[in-house]
Amino acid sequence: LGTLALAAAGGYLLGSIPFGVILTRLVTGEDVRSIGSGNIGATNVLRTGRKDLAFATLILDAGKGAAAFLIAQALFPGVPAIAAVAGGAAFLGHLFPVWLGFKGGKGVATFFGLLLAAAWPLGLMAGATWLIVAALFRMSSFAALVAAAMAPLFALLPLPVMGLPASGPILALAAATALLIWIRHHENIARILKGTEPRIGAKKG
Ligand code: G3P
Repeated sequence: LGTLALAAAGGYLLGSIPFGVILTRLVTGEDVRSIGSGNIGATNVLRTGRKDLAFATLILDAGKGAAAFLIAQALFPGVPAIAAVAGGAAFLGHLFPVWLGFKGGKGVATFFGLLLAAAWPLGLMAGATWLIVAALFRMSSFAALVAAAMAPLFALLPLPVMGLPASGPILALAAATALLIWIRHHENIARILKGTEPRIGAKKG
């Protein structure tokens, strides 16, 4: 139990680092939370007009999820449940960071980082899904919702050469984080249904 608590605490602390807020504050002086959708993620950082900062936010938010998982896996090899707990805690840290009064992001980049670290074919398939849907519909949120819905299904695919189907803890991690992504996108879902969700590249949310 001590080990699980340690993995959860370490994962949470890593995941709670709000890179989008930090980078935009440092580089442009703006608060990304007062722009566009108000979200702290790469999609909303892009609405500042800074593609470089959006890209850095994507990589760092994904990286912290991957790092939490991989560090736990290295410390406790052969116990995927501990890595899954650390990764899940990093995801929760991004959604509910103590530093921002527990008002964090929607978890999409961190989700992709986690999937890539936990089972790279799963991460690649979910990432490809995001890219295809984003190219077709030009909506980051819609692409994330479809990719999140597909990820647990991809995890079930029997592709032995690629390490799938995923183990129980990884499947649980993919399903739980996907569900939280859907819950966090409730405002986006309402806008998508109304036809008012901004397209990628539009500055105003
Ligand atoms: O990563 C979050 C994305 O799916 C939606 O972001 O700012 O358009 O709500 P946003």
